[in-house]
Amino acid sequence: MADFVGAVDQGTTSTRFMIFDHGGNEVAKHQLEHEQILPNPGWVEHNPTEIWERTRAVIETAMGKANLEASDLAALGITNQRETTVVWNRRTGRPYYNAIVWQDTRTDRIASALDRDGRGDVIRKKAGLPPATYFSGGKIQWILENVDGVREAAEAGDAIFGNTDTWLLWNLTGGVDGGVHVTDPTNASRTMLMNLETLDWDDELLSFFQIPRQMLPRIRPSSNPDFYGMTRAHGPIGGEIPLSGDLGDQQAATVGQVCFDAGEAKNTYGTGNFLLLNTGTELVRSKNGLLTTVCYQFGDQQPVYALEGSIAVTGSAVQWLRDQLGIISGASESESLARQVEDNGGVYFVPAFSGLFAPYWRSDARGAIVGLSRYNTNAHLARATLESICYQTRDVVEAMRQDSGVALDVLRVDGGITANRLCMELQADILGVPVSKPVVAETTALGAAYAAGLAVGFWNSTDELRQNWNEDERWEPRWSEEQREKGYAGWKKAVSRTLDWVD
Ligand code: G3P
Repeated sequence: MADFVGAVDQGTTSTRFMIFDHGGNEVAKHQLEHEQILPNPGWVEHNPTEIWERTRAVIETAMGKANLEASDLAALGITNQRETTVVWNRRTGRPYYNAIVWQDTRTDRIASALDRDGRGDVIRKKAGLPPATYFSGGKIQWILENVDGVREAAEAGDAIFGNTDTWLLWNLTGGVDGGVHVTDPTNASRTMLMNLETLDWDDELLSFFQIPRQMLPRIRPSSNPDFYGMTRAHGPIGGEIPLSGDLGDQQAATVGQVCFDAGEAKNTYGTGNFLLLNTGTELVRSKNGLLTTVCYQFGDQQPVYALEGSIAVTGSAVQWLRDQLGIISGASESESLARQVEDNGGVYFVPAFSGLFAPYWRSDARGAIVGLSRYNTNAHLARATLESICYQTRDVVEAMRQDSGVALDVLRVDGGITANRLCMELQADILGVPVSKPVVAETTALGAAYAAGLAVGFWNSTDELRQNWNEDERWEPRWSEEQREKGYAGWKKAVSRTLDWVD
């Protein structure tokens, strides 16, 4: 009997492989970064071949560290950076172009044209998304229009599309030698091409981007008792095991945080922040700048939906302090520097580097630091950066309350910045609700493992998974209501200064 489940987490900056036991405890992990390719302002690419090589390496290394063989794993799950677009040739296995990453803004014209002739409203209604550079549809269109030979190959059925989940599933199940071309509804719901009600590709949406249907993967449940396929014996796992779980990374974190009931929410702090509120089997359409997305589909059960607030720049603003300004040498120093001062000293920093995502969706916004006086120091800027992470989260929480009528009684958090205790204190203060962090902080990989394990009976129910969740730390709000509202009013004013910056 296999005692473990494995999960690949293919993220924006790195790929990791993790192995979990039945209690959801981490048994082994290995992680490798990949190159961020930045050929032009606003362009962000990854090399898909490098990502596949890193995936192989992290699996082999983690299996070696734990001294495990394929037969020790009951199943394998995959989770991934969403929206990032790969187009490759199914006969040669070679990508036609680098992966175009979710943060990439080169499709600005494609996205803004959609709102000039009413197509944008059809996308909002059918796909639950506002037209934006963020999603895969425009990125596929860009590759079809700009890379020689791709359109003909796509029409002939040779050029195929996938997000990085699909790319890795295809390679793990044999690649040119019979690899399966599949995805799940959570990933498909980030393309602007899937109808949220039918969970199938929608011909009208495909026509907006002139995408041939045969390019697209089959959409199968996120936890798939029929398996997407088996790993190949000569692959990195070293044997045949079921590939039975696939979720976009933010939905995976929602599953890893066991937010299985409507009204439960989690916030993941990575390069950006992604707050997802489970809305159950009800499809809630946002009137306040949130996305409607698939949260998960387990086997033949009805799909569960979520409202999502996606924030493009949070952790990457801290990286900017380190890499571009050089005022800190590592992420942890942002906490010690910010603790040197009692408050932000009147300074607000709105890191609208890629425009503003939720709830504003303004690609014309650019970053601003406002409220400076000669009194201010690096410490105020560090504090304003941490506060910007929390204020952007408050913007999203406000929109969620208006859309769903649900007021959060606690915010479950995970991701890298949750190690920054000051940031978590500020989050509780700025929101006015407690913030709670689980013991297993790797909720994204854990969620993919849960989806895979549920499909093969390694875990029997979501109730069983709930028992694995334990709180590690909790932060209670301490600011007065007056302080909270005054601070938030300052933030809103700062945001208004960033709009209309780019023509
Ligand atoms: O939508 C983008 C998101 O999936 C990226 O997450 O953690 O890889 O930056 P992450």
